[in-house]
Amino acid sequence: MKEHPIIQANHLSKIYKTDLVETVALADVSFEIKKGEFVAIMGPSGSGKSTLMHLLGALDKPTSGIYILDGENVENLTDDELADIRNRKIGFVFQAYNLLPRTSALKNVMLPMAYGGIPKENREEIAKKFLKMVGLEDRMSHNSNQLSGGQQQRVAIARSLVMNPAILLADEPTGNIASAQAEEIMAIFQRLNEEGHTIIMITHEPDIAQHAKRIILLRDGKIVEDGNGYRQKIIGKGEG
Ligand SMILES: Nc1ncnc2c1ncn2[C@@H]1O[C@H](COP(=O)(O)OP(=O)(O)OP(=O)(O)O)[C@@H](O)[C@H]1O
Ligand SMILES: [Mg+2]
Repeated sequence: MKEHPIIQANHLSKIYKTDLVETVALADVSFEIKKGEFVAIMGPSGSGKSTLMHLLGALDKPTSGIYILDGENVENLTDDELADIRNRKIGFVFQAYNLLPRTSALKNVMLPMAYGGIPKENREEIAKKFLKMVGLEDRMSHNSNQLSGGQQQRVAIARSLVMNPAILLADEPTGNIASAQAEEIMAIFQRLNEEGHTIIMITHEPDIAQHAKRIILLRDGKIVEDGNGYRQKIIGKGEG
């Protein structure tokens, strides 16, 4: 039996309405992503990248179009069902980390498991395993505000992984950090992808994007390129 794509976006549009203006953030975007793909989303500021990521993460619903996440039409799910699916299937890594301040790295990483029904006695061990994986075994008791930007981002990655999500969504995961640390984070993503996680990452940095095997390029809320072509251009530039 043919496996369904983990992500099916069918004619997704998103229009933000305020009293004064309507902004078309996404205009009729369609694509599929198969299990195990590593995809980068690129495009100028305001082109709709974060809007698309919010839809893919089921954090928001499209104005029109159909979004099917791992075979389920998101439109038909209740808020509780959505929250549950997000927690079980999707790991989020955002540019602003979203860590709790004055709270240890370990506690931050344990948090999704409290909502996710992981038995209390297992949470610490699992959290430690992922903090170790991102190279932070010696920073687990530091509060998040006592960590560097790159370290905070790695805590956010560890936190995104404790529920073993099929999909990792990352919005500018290397946006605020030095390039050596960014490469470390890409090495982690690469390893996760090899282990079978589907990774979708927004970036405006060609050096970062080339780690993905497929690049979706957005402009004015539309897909203007999708595939390997843009990556070839980036790599070509790098060598020439
Ligand atoms: N909540 C909102 N209300 C109204 N307009 C919005 C809202 N969120 C985003 N927009 C608009 O939608 C468009 C797409 O925004 P989006 O955040 O998706 O862009 P982006 O590609 O992620 O940009 P950046 O690279 O700067 O993060 C922009 O023109 C933005 O001004
Ligand atoms: Mg954005």
